Amino acid sequence: MKKGKKLYEGKAKIIYATSDKSLVIQYFKDDATAFNNLKKSTIQGKGVLNNRISEHILTNLTQIGIKNHLVKRLNMREQIIKLVEIIPIEFIVRNVATGSLTKRLGIEEGTVLKHPLLEYCLKDDKLGDPLIAEEHILAFDWATKLELEKVKKMILRINDFMIGMFGAVGIKLIDFKLEFGKLKENGKTEVILADEISPDTCRLWDSITDKRLDKDRFRKDLGDLIPAYTEVAKRLGILHEHSNLSSVNVTKLRSIKKKK
Ligand code: TMP
Ligand code: ASP
Repeated sequence: MKKGKKLYEGKAKIIYATSDKSLVIQYFKDDATAFNNLKKSTIQGKGVLNNRISEHILTNLTQIGIKNHLVKRLNMREQIIKLVEIIPIEFIVRNVATGSLTKRLGIEEGTVLKHPLLEYCLKDDKLGDPLIAEEHILAFDWATKLELEKVKKMILRINDFMIGMFGAVGIKLIDFKLEFGKLKENGKTEVILADEISPDTCRLWDSITDKRLDKDRFRKDLGDLIPAYTEVAKRLGILHEHSNLSSVNVTKLRSIKKKK
C-alpha cells in the first residue's frame, strides 16, 4: 500500500491518504500542546510511545467487541486506520474529579465520582472546545439520537474495560477523552471509535503514590514526561522491563532505520 498526500494535520497527528480510498495512515508526532494550543513543545519520543500504547488499547478493545478504526500498526510512528468522518465532539469520561471539572464546578480535586460522568465538548480550538449538552449534538445534527445512544453504551464498556486494564497494573484511570467517527461501508453508516487512546488523552495516576503518568506532566510543567509514558507502556507489557524508549534511543532507532 502506497502512502499518499497529507490530508490533515492536527496538533499531535497527521493523516495521509493511501492507495486504498477507504484507508488512511495516522502518523504520531512528537508535538505536545495544551490549553487549546496556547502551550506548545516538542517532546522527542512521545509519538512513538503513543502509537504503541494506543495500538495496544484499541487492539484489546476490538477483542471485547468495540469496533474502532485501527487496522494495524505499520511502524514506530504510523498506523493504518479506516477512513471515518470524525464526529466533532470530544467525549470526556470522568471517574475522579480533576482538571477542568474541579475549576468549573469547584469540586475538590481527587473526589471519586459515584458514577462515571460523561461530558461533551465541541471540537473547535478557536472556541476553546466549549462544553455542550446532548441537546446541542442533536440540534445541530452532529449525531442522531440512535448513534448517541450507541456511543454512550460503547463509552461505558470502554471505561469499565480500561479501569480494569489499568487497575491490574497499578494505575488509576482518572479521566479520558474519546472521539468517534462515521464509517461508510457497504452502503451503511456505522459509528465506531476513532482517534487515539494514550497518556495524551487520559489522566493516569499511580495507584499507590498518585504520581501523574500522563500529559499533565507537560500541562503542569512536572517534567519527565517520557519516563512516565514509558512506565505506562512497560506496565501494560508493551515494552520489556529493560527497554528504554528514551529520546536518545528513539533518535538512534530513527537513524538506524534511515541508514538501512
Ligand atoms: P479536562 O479536565 O482538561 O477537561 O480534560 C479531561 C480529559 O480529557 C483529560 O484526560 C484530558 C483529555 N483531553 C484531551 O484529550 N483533549 C482535550 O482537548 C481536552 C480538553 C482534554
Ligand atoms: N489537546 C488540547 C490542546 O492542545 C488540550 C489538552 O490536552 O490540554 O491544546
